[in-house]
Amino acid sequence: MGALLLRCALLALAAGLVAARGGGGGGAGAAGRLSPNYYRHSCPRVERIVADVVAAKQRANPSTAAGTLRLFFHDCFVGGCDASVLVSPLSADRSPERAAEINLSLPGDSFDVVARAKVALEVACPGTVSCADILALAARDLVGILGGPRFPVALGRRDARRSDARDVEGNLPRTNMSARAMAVLFARKGFTPRELVALAGAHTVGFSHCGEFAHRLYSFRSADGYDPSLNPAFARALQSSCANYRSDPTISIFNDIMTPGKFDEVYFKNLPRGLGLLASDAALWEYPATRVFVQRYADNRTAFFEDFAAAMQKLGAVGVKTGRQGVVRRHCDVL
Ligand code: HEM
Repeated sequence: MGALLLRCALLALAAGLVAARGGGGGGAGAAGRLSPNYYRHSCPRVERIVADVVAAKQRANPSTAAGTLRLFFHDCFVGGCDASVLVSPLSADRSPERAAEINLSLPGDSFDVVARAKVALEVACPGTVSCADILALAARDLVGILGGPRFPVALGRRDARRSDARDVEGNLPRTNMSARAMAVLFARKGFTPRELVALAGAHTVGFSHCGEFAHRLYSFRSADGYDPSLNPAFARALQSSCANYRSDPTISIFNDIMTPGKFDEVYFKNLPRGLGLLASDAALWEYPATRVFVQRYADNRTAFFEDFAAAMQKLGAVGVKTGRQGVVRRHCDVL
């Protein structure tokens, strides 16, 4: 069984699953102020318009989905879901969230899909639909396209009037955090360890640059020189795939090496087998309070999908601005 899995992992690597790509941040509980019917009169086709733009973009560039899901997370955890992460450094007089180091790897396609939907909506219903709502809808739609759960998105978020790179620090998880530290960070935002694990299941899609996990591969303080919690064959395959990551920082590896393009529960099956890519993924298996949910989702895709859908709706309500607390920006990348 173990040998078979190893072979699968290596086959996956050998089959070209290693991708190379260029590099590209309140608490929950405000959902009551949002409503699925918010644009019923002002822009009744909003969901259809976003869905069409998103589907076309994903067809043209299949890495859009994962990038947009991550973009949504980084928006909501830094000052709430208010599209502040979308502001371009070129348009702002101070360094916006997008310029923070952790956001530099957010892929251009994820910003582009929101910009395209915004253009379509400005034609259909000018000045009406916020960029924050578009991002929430796009993330939901893209999860569905990849085979994940579908769920309703409450609407009515307003866009931020400010975006500051300095707000990012301390609000987004880092790969070097322990599961306990991640649980504390998520608790600050109103999320339980169970919701943390469900949301981390987003790593069933997309990829990570070698620089994010290279410390696990080279000069690690262990007999073999790599992180012993990694499956040995996987570690050696990663060592070889990432060998040139310093000269080519775009080299990336799929987060879920088994079924990288599918939104499913396999990410959780990978963790007990040492096939978690990031140290933060592996940590969820080491910590009892999170391990129990890793095991539950590994065994039960339905449980994962239900919890992920619920946690995403909660994520979409973090620190939202309504009414005069925000604006509807005409261009998502300009304040
Ligand atoms: C729990 C702590 C988390 C940590 C430490 C973490 C860290 C990371 C890192 C370092 C990457 C690789 C970025 C790159 O190299 O381009 C990544 C990718 C990704 N993350 Fe997370 N993340 C976490 C939670 C989440 C959550 C809650 C979501 C969404 C709900 C998410 C969605 C994603 C996605 C979809 C990707 C792939 C992006 C792509 O392919 O462009 N992550 N994450």
